[in-house]
Amino acid sequence: MHSRRALLYMPGDNWKMITKSVTLGVDSICMDMEDGTAINKKDLARATIVKALLELDFGKSEKLARINSVGSGFEKDDIEIVLPYHPDGIVIPKIESFDQVEWASKIIETAELKYGWPLNSIRVLIGVETAKGILNLKEIATHPRLDAIIFGGEDFAASIGAVRTKEAVELLYARQAVIVACAANDLQAIDIVTIDYKDIEALRIESEFGARLGFVGKQIIHPAQVEPVQTAFTPNDEAVAYAKRIVETFEANQKEGKGAYSLDGKMIDMPLVKNAQKVLERTKAAGKN
Ligand code: COA
Ligand code: MG
Repeated sequence: MHSRRALLYMPGDNWKMITKSVTLGVDSICMDMEDGTAINKKDLARATIVKALLELDFGKSEKLARINSVGSGFEKDDIEIVLPYHPDGIVIPKIESFDQVEWASKIIETAELKYGWPLNSIRVLIGVETAKGILNLKEIATHPRLDAIIFGGEDFAASIGAVRTKEAVELLYARQAVIVACAANDLQAIDIVTIDYKDIEALRIESEFGARLGFVGKQIIHPAQVEPVQTAFTPNDEAVAYAKRIVETFEANQKEGKGAYSLDGKMIDMPLVKNAQKVLERTKAAGKN
């Protein structure tokens, strides 16, 4: 699966930001037709995204297009206009049911067959960011075309009538619900946007907290957010070295017939090894050894 530590949005009608985004070395670039684009700019956004898919070299960055939510009235044109230009994935916001994912999946499959592309070569990432979406996660997260679930903090707060705070305690339950649904179905969980984009220290703190909760990446909205977020979602050298030591010493102790043993005065057994293996998987996915 593509590493998605930092997923950068820009309004789909903003050619300047799109051309800038391909120079940033960001994991994923999400050209938006939904809330980042004004109602009277939806057509321009579609045409601009098509132009970008045709003309720009995205390098290693993943190219994504976010359509409007299912039921908005814009979604069918959004997806049908961009699909022929083969984005790497479609992002669908405000998903509340399995059937909404299935709706998009069917249209994508039809395009894959029509153009002779490998089946499932266009991935689906969904936003789950409403009370209904969180309640229905159990079923939604089992859809086979999914790669990732993106949690939208601002939309969710609006959906439940919560007041947003810097500590984001009002979002904790829903953030963890998304992480659990993703872990159970082998999906990537992608965390909230820090909208105060000038406060890089707040971004670092929120990113590190998200990574500790179990998110693999974070949504971003400004070039200055790329580096701090990529760093926070890449295990640091100390964590990697410790994970390697756990895996190595565990194997040696297993051979000696010990399931639990002591390392630096701490008890190590299977769950800690599994967690260490996850750290090493994430390190590898981020292209670091
Ligand atoms: N992607 C790519 N480039 C971006 C960018 C983005 N999301 N946000 C800003 N830039 C570029 C600007 O075009 C500018 O480029 P330049 O130096 O070549 O002129 C540079 O980065 C600095 O931008 P800055 O002046 O600091 O920001 P701004 O005031 O122009 O814009 C926002 C601030 C928040 C309006 C803007 O970052 C934005 O629109 N972000 C995306 C919002 C979005 O998509 N929301 C929906 C999803 S949550
Ligand atoms: Mg939103």
